[in-house]
Amino acid sequence: MAYDSWNIWSFFTIILIIIDSNYGQISTPLSRSWTFNDPTILRHVQLVFRHGDRTPVYVEPPEPYYEKHKYWPQGFGQLTKQGKAKAYRLGQLLRNYYSDYLGWRFSVQEVFTQSSALDRCIETAQLIMAGILARWDISPNSEPLAKLWQPTPIETFIPADEDTLLRVNKPCPEADEIKERLMDSRRNRRLLQRHSALLDQLEQILSRHLHTIEHVSNVHENMNIMHENGYYWYKWQPESGNRSKELSSWTQESEEEILRQLKLFEMAKYRSMFDDDFIKKVRAGELLHRIGDIFKSKRSVLEPAADSDRDYRLHLYSTHDTKLAALLQTLNVWNHELVPYLGTLMFELHQSRENSSQYYVQLWYLNQTADLLEMNELRPHRLDIPGCDHEEFDEQDLMCPLDDFLILIEPFKPPQDWKHSCGVHSELTAMISVNILLLIVNLTMMFFLLMGIMYVCSCINSRSGYERLR
Ligand SMILES: *[C@@H]1O[C@H](CO)[C@@H](O)[C@H](O)[C@H]1NC(C)=O
Ligand SMILES: *[C@@H]1O[C@H](CO)[C@@H](O)[C@H](O)[C@H]1NC(C)=O
Ligand SMILES: *[C@@H]1O[C@H](CO)[C@@H](O)[C@H](O)[C@H]1NC(C)=O
Repeated sequence: MAYDSWNIWSFFTIILIIIDSNYGQISTPLSRSWTFNDPTILRHVQLVFRHGDRTPVYVEPPEPYYEKHKYWPQGFGQLTKQGKAKAYRLGQLLRNYYSDYLGWRFSVQEVFTQSSALDRCIETAQLIMAGILARWDISPNSEPLAKLWQPTPIETFIPADEDTLLRVNKPCPEADEIKERLMDSRRNRRLLQRHSALLDQLEQILSRHLHTIEHVSNVHENMNIMHENGYYWYKWQPESGNRSKELSSWTQESEEEILRQLKLFEMAKYRSMFDDDFIKKVRAGELLHRIGDIFKSKRSVLEPAADSDRDYRLHLYSTHDTKLAALLQTLNVWNHELVPYLGTLMFELHQSRENSSQYYVQLWYLNQTADLLEMNELRPHRLDIPGCDHEEFDEQDLMCPLDDFLILIEPFKPPQDWKHSCGVHSELTAMISVNILLLIVNLTMMFFLLMGIMYVCSCINSRSGYERLR
């Protein structure tokens, strides 16, 4: 009898294992699952990610590997093959990670994607969406293409440089002035001094000046990308022209050491760049407030945001390391590491089960993205926002009440009047003031001319009068 029941059980277990392993690839939630014991329910998710691995934005001779057709056939500032594969994989893993929240029926209609207008960001957004939706439309009646891929709408803001939501370049003289000062700190100047021998050598090789943290940071950025692609400077053989003599003494080890030293400059750049409340407002404020407003609208049907936001369950923002760095610093949770490709900030809105009018924000940082292709699950780090009066649900689960989150981001509301706050003088005012100046100059000149003529005339007149009298 006991023997029989063991048999039946093992039979069931085997069946279960088979079902499970068939399902396993896509349906088994690998990390967090949603049970009725959880004190909160996940209500909304907003993801802010950096684009995937890219080629250098620009390489100009005599910088090694400038030959675009040979080394960067996909073009400058574009995703690499690796970057594309990783973005797609991230999409798949995100779908797994949020499988309980998104469910089987999740569709394109339920996600709102906005991207910085650069190719690499738009493509990353497309790839992540393709991964999120991959192999989920498996009903026998679907179109063959739909089983592989579905088109997804992606919003962008044009002109790209005016995009304050997902980029940080919109001209703002006031912020740039502060940034210059931050970059020129005593600490940064000491860093430049400490490495002056190396910088002299690099100036020789590149025939350009490396006087500022930003200049050197750019060299690091490019050299780092070249190493990622297996292109070492010391190995480079130019197609035409000469290779700098300096390079002949380099080895792989010395070059890697140089890269490590250069990294300090990129770190210094990111440490300094957003270290000011006005800069945070201008560079991070809009996205933070967008995220806060969407959460607010999800909390209550009484405060819906724009009509279009009501039904989305997922918001994706495809952007750059600068934007993530600005967010991390504004929320005071930056770990002083560079933001990796596809680094993702996951803003989650949770609702308490016990008291349905209580909402919480949890923030996660997915920064282990270098080996996405080998990973089976995502392991983001929870970031606890300083200054938030966190509620502790179980020993490991801190949550920031939504109201606290909203209060924390309040001081970083973006300026209402960009031009005024940033000290931008519009072209029209500039033109008018130049014209007024010219008018004043003209009038003054005419006045003196007139005076001169009158004086000369009066002299002639008086002289002729005198002569006449004589
Ligand atoms: C390369 O170097 C040689 C000698 O060092 C020099 O004569 C020649 O002009 C250089 N060519 C270029 C293209 O710089
Ligand atoms: C990712 O971020 C966490 C939290 O800031 C940090 O502890 C960890 O070292 C970071 N990992 C990588 C690979 O940068
Ligand atoms: C639920 O939370 C709201 C908002 O924090 C509070 O005003 C209310 O008293 C709470 N209700 C209960 C039953 O605890």
